[in-house]
Amino acid sequence: METTLDPNLIVYFEDTYKPLAEAKVGLLTHALHYGSGIFEGIRGYWSAEDEELYLFRAREHYERWKSNARLLKIEIPLSAKQLCDITCELIARNQLRTDVYVRPLVFKSRQGIGVAFGPEFELAIVAVPFGTYIDSTKGLRVAVSSWRRVDDNAIPARGKICGAYVNSALSGDEARANGFDEAVVLTNDGHVAEGAASNLFLVRSGQLITPPVYDNILEGITRATVIELARDMWIETIERPVDRTELYVASEAFFAGTAFEIAPIIEVDRHPVGTGSIGHITRRLQEAYVEVTRGRTARGSHWRLPAYREVGVRSVT
Ligand SMILES: Cc1ncc(COP(=O)(O)O)c(C=O)c1O
Repeated sequence: METTLDPNLIVYFEDTYKPLAEAKVGLLTHALHYGSGIFEGIRGYWSAEDEELYLFRAREHYERWKSNARLLKIEIPLSAKQLCDITCELIARNQLRTDVYVRPLVFKSRQGIGVAFGPEFELAIVAVPFGTYIDSTKGLRVAVSSWRRVDDNAIPARGKICGAYVNSALSGDEARANGFDEAVVLTNDGHVAEGAASNLFLVRSGQLITPPVYDNILEGITRATVIELARDMWIETIERPVDRTELYVASEAFFAGTAFEIAPIIEVDRHPVGTGSIGHITRRLQEAYVEVTRGRTARGSHWRLPAYREVGVRSVT
């Protein structure tokens, strides 16, 4: 989804709040040349009924960000709680009363020529209005990419490392150029890893199947949420290597991710998945996910951070 950004949007950068237009990085920044950053993606859901913006699993996203940053020897000097506080403050300062996407980014900031990392880093958090990322109402038609997923021994996919997303852009763009909605990416040994920017689930014999963490996937927070929501419905999830042809014989399939949410797949490489329409387990999970993210159920209240309430509580204490 394209987003037109307001230059007056307040962002968090260089340890302070400032307008987006003033948040600049130098041309010789290490991360710009070598992809040496780690990012996150968090959604916030506006509830008009509650007059509240619910950040979904923000603490888990920040914990993942902090531990992934260590892959680049960066110790983020703020706790997950402090990072959540900054995010709520951004929502309030920008008076965001719509669905949002929060983009935390930490990157190697040494200026100059040379691949060596250096100790310098900067972190930024930006919150922008954000709606549907991909129109999946009719179900997605996807293709297995000719590009393979980055390997753990090359650039760890679990790291959400900026440079690794060239791999996602190559596979996603290839699929769209060939008339598909999205790509499915395989590992070097031919197992299904995930989508270009989402995890993948199949349904076979009434069970959910998803590739394991050792098959070069991002250890998705939506993936973990889906596994829990499915368990509530007495649907078991098996984490195991998935062959390409299982995509063709599955009765249902879907992508899961913060941006994608739960996006049904109805065709893979021109093979219909199941009946070629959105499957009923997928639909139930989609409904449960909407309820939980938008705060329409008590279920998962520990996953929702009410941004305006948090800022209100802090201003009176
Ligand atoms: C490559 C990749 N896989 C999976 C996901 C889903 O992860 P999460 O559910 O934590 O957003 C993402 C999210 O951006 C991603 O980029």
